[in-house]
Amino acid sequence: MPAITSSAPGKVILCGEHAVVYGAPAIALPVFNVSTKTTVVARPAAPEGAVRIIAPCVNLNSSFEEIEDNHPLRAAVSLVLKELGIARLQACEIRIGTSIPIAAGLGSSASVTVSLARALSAFLGHPLPDASINHIAFEVEKIHHGTPSGIDNTVITYQVPVYFQKGMPIEHLAIRNPFTLVIADSGWHSPTAEMVAGVRERWLADRERYERLFSKIASLSIEIKNFLLEGDLAANGNYLTRNHELLRELGVSTPLLDKLVNAALEAGAYGAKLSGGGGGGTIIALVNEASADTVTTALEQHGASRTITTTIQPPRGLQ
Ligand code: PMV
Repeated sequence: MPAITSSAPGKVILCGEHAVVYGAPAIALPVFNVSTKTTVVARPAAPEGAVRIIAPCVNLNSSFEEIEDNHPLRAAVSLVLKELGIARLQACEIRIGTSIPIAAGLGSSASVTVSLARALSAFLGHPLPDASINHIAFEVEKIHHGTPSGIDNTVITYQVPVYFQKGMPIEHLAIRNPFTLVIADSGWHSPTAEMVAGVRERWLADRERYERLFSKIASLSIEIKNFLLEGDLAANGNYLTRNHELLRELGVSTPLLDKLVNAALEAGAYGAKLSGGGGGGTIIALVNEASADTVTTALEQHGASRTITTTIQPPRGLQ
């Protein structure tokens, strides 16, 4: 049987993180400059059920049985088998490699699950539909993050810009005009679960204040969606910066993230904000062709460990 390979992108959140956990809408974008690749290869000489998982990104090189029950990779494999109604996996080796920094707000965990679930189900002869892949990735996100909103698994499964609100149908955003983001990794990585738990604690202590912040963030997401659909996000880049201010008020920014946001703005970005769980991780800066290099240099000079420039394109046919 030939090796089967499947890739999944990373993602950034353009606006609405954290508030999305409390029911506000948020917008997420796939980032194809980074990705996860999973390859499944049969081991015809090995006994049935001899499954090996090799994932250097999480320091794992083990047989399936040796991996603890609630390990996200074990859970992902088990959920694929359950979805397909298969009791036992044939002998195979599953290799997972990712260029997405872990716990940096770029969706590494959902990307790993989506690529694994796609590759494994295809290897078993029954490629799962997007809805099942999304469901599996959401279940595994719960192991990683406790109470995920579902935005990461959704944008990475469908690989299109999404307007996401818990409990509502997923809206794929047919953006009108391309736009460019410089993504800067602060080099400090903070688990999303801890950041989400911190907001929850503060929300429980002062619901009124936090719900006011969530609703301000919700309004920004609605406005930004309209700019994306009507074509003038750049002229309204300050909405991203306003989202950053509200994320600061939620207590998820850090002095380094604030410094990177300010450096991007001073270097000519239309707007900038932290993206994802915060406490470290990444910031995004909305730029144009003229400012992209200056902003990138400024971010590197102010402590970014890595930068990625990505252009979000309208769907084919709208260009
Ligand atoms: O995985 P991260 O760090 O990009 O965070 C996801 C966004 C949050 O809103 C903070 C959490 C969630 O589940 O929506």
